[in-house]
Amino acid sequence: MRGIVKRYGDVRALDGVDLELRPGEVHALLGENGAGKTTLMNVLYGMTRPDAGTIEIGGRAVRFAAPRDAAAEGIGMVHQHFMLVPTLTVAENMVLGRPGGLFLGRRRLAAVADRLAELARRYELDVDPHAKVWQLSVGEQQRVEILRALYHEARVLILDEPTSTLAPVESERLFPRLRAMAREGAAVVFITHHLGDVMRWADRITVLRRGTRVGVLDPAATSEPELARLMVGRDVGTVAPRTGPSVRKETVLTVDGIRANGDRGPIALHDVSFTVAAGEIVAIAGVEGNGQPELEEVLTGLRAPAAGRVLLDGRDVTDLPPGARLGHGLGLVPSDRNRRGIVGGLSVAENLVLDRIGRAPFGTPLRVSRQAIEEHGAAEVERFSIAVSSPAQLAGTLSGGNAQRTVLARALSAGLRCLVAAQPTRGLDVGAIEFVWERLAEARAAGLAVLLISTDLDEVMSIADRCCVLYRGRLVASWPREDLDREQIGLAMGGALNHPPQAPDAAEAARSADDAPSPDFEEA
Ligand SMILES: Nc1ncnc2c1ncn2[C@@H]1O[C@H](COP(=O)(O)OP(=O)(O)OP(=O)(O)O)[C@@H](O)[C@H]1O
Ligand SMILES: [Mg+2]
Repeated sequence: MRGIVKRYGDVRALDGVDLELRPGEVHALLGENGAGKTTLMNVLYGMTRPDAGTIEIGGRAVRFAAPRDAAAEGIGMVHQHFMLVPTLTVAENMVLGRPGGLFLGRRRLAAVADRLAELARRYELDVDPHAKVWQLSVGEQQRVEILRALYHEARVLILDEPTSTLAPVESERLFPRLRAMAREGAAVVFITHHLGDVMRWADRITVLRRGTRVGVLDPAATSEPELARLMVGRDVGTVAPRTGPSVRKETVLTVDGIRANGDRGPIALHDVSFTVAAGEIVAIAGVEGNGQPELEEVLTGLRAPAAGRVLLDGRDVTDLPPGARLGHGLGLVPSDRNRRGIVGGLSVAENLVLDRIGRAPFGTPLRVSRQAIEEHGAAEVERFSIAVSSPAQLAGTLSGGNAQRTVLARALSAGLRCLVAAQPTRGLDVGAIEFVWERLAEARAAGLAVLLISTDLDEVMSIADRCCVLYRGRLVASWPREDLDREQIGLAMGGALNHPPQAPDAAEAARSADDAPSPDFEEA
């Protein structure tokens, strides 16, 4: 790729970027939120048309009007949000949009399944070709996406933040597979914010900053601090310091015996109980797909539980709608920010006060104060370093990380009692993660009760005062801060710790027995 330019209005998402990929290499693409990584890969994948620049494959100029054209040249992409049809089988998903497609006869489809099984064996990407996609875990779906690229004989495989939804164990397995594909001659590009993975697995690293390429590096000749500095343009710490001792006070949030059904019918949460006090951060760790979205929805009033209660400052809010909960001081940073966090058609400034429009100081029910919204917007954009041309920019055009900053900025300025933060740093760059952890620690010090729902072990280890693990809809383990252990949490997340199911009042018992030897879950 040479001199790739892509403008959106005044924003130069890509300002003449060169990128060179070689067969047989694993190439990492790094950069801050909004640096242009996804845009560059979308250009390569034929999803986005550049304003200028050229693409050559093996010395031959190519032009892509659609992903189909790029796929025909052997370019495959695994998006952060998978693009599989849930009601079809793995094999059917492979032939979708291809000649014959779903009208392939049974014999041809069987041949597809055989070839998939062979590829799956060769690259150790275990998936059953006959399984329906909706039955698969997130990790399996990702393997299907990779298999699809392999099936179509991709010469270039692009992965946009592939580890952000995987369990630690699964991320560990992903990279050796990518290596194996590279060994067979493919060029593999992965986007990530995890510098450790980059140092360990990349052959070369391209760093973008604000739409320009600022370096191409060899991991053997660089370091994490240098990479962070190149990305951000200044020195940044890569790990936030652990916060000071907890200043836990009265119980703010009580979750008592919650049972809830999932979207697909089976019970998604079994008797989940815990409490969060003012001035503490309680983490619910766990791999995606173990009941987190359902818990998030029950807490915020988007899903009615089948049993159990949610109390806020002793008041039963189980039946209150989301807006009323917010009125009582329960706020949310949703995991699905594109659907629930951001209204794409409104400006960033408006999104920053979405829950408070019509209330002082942003106006009255009869009159919206534009000026107050704009001033607040400008201040928050500055405070949270949201990369926009102006606070009037539409929120739908924000990069992943900047959308997340907007949602956080809104929640943290709302004067809450309890904040439910679901995956608050997913997709954020190193500088921004540090910033968000500091803000959450600050909120905790100011007496907010924070429930952190997270798949990220670093995050849990850095800021949690207590950590429970949610596995298959149950809280299977719980540790106070002094006993937090990466490995143990990781094992519990993967279902490898055989703790007895938690009794409804176990969290409560653990709290009141703080000075006694911890009655928390003994190793089975
Ligand atoms: N459709 C669009 N309209 C307007 N601006 C856009 C559009 N798509 C992207 N941008 C802007 O282009 C810039 C680059 O965005 P991009 O999504 O490529 O960033 P990124 O490096 O992938 O960031 P992240 O790490 O947050 O995912 C951002 O400033 C973003 O706001
Ligand atoms: Mg991106």
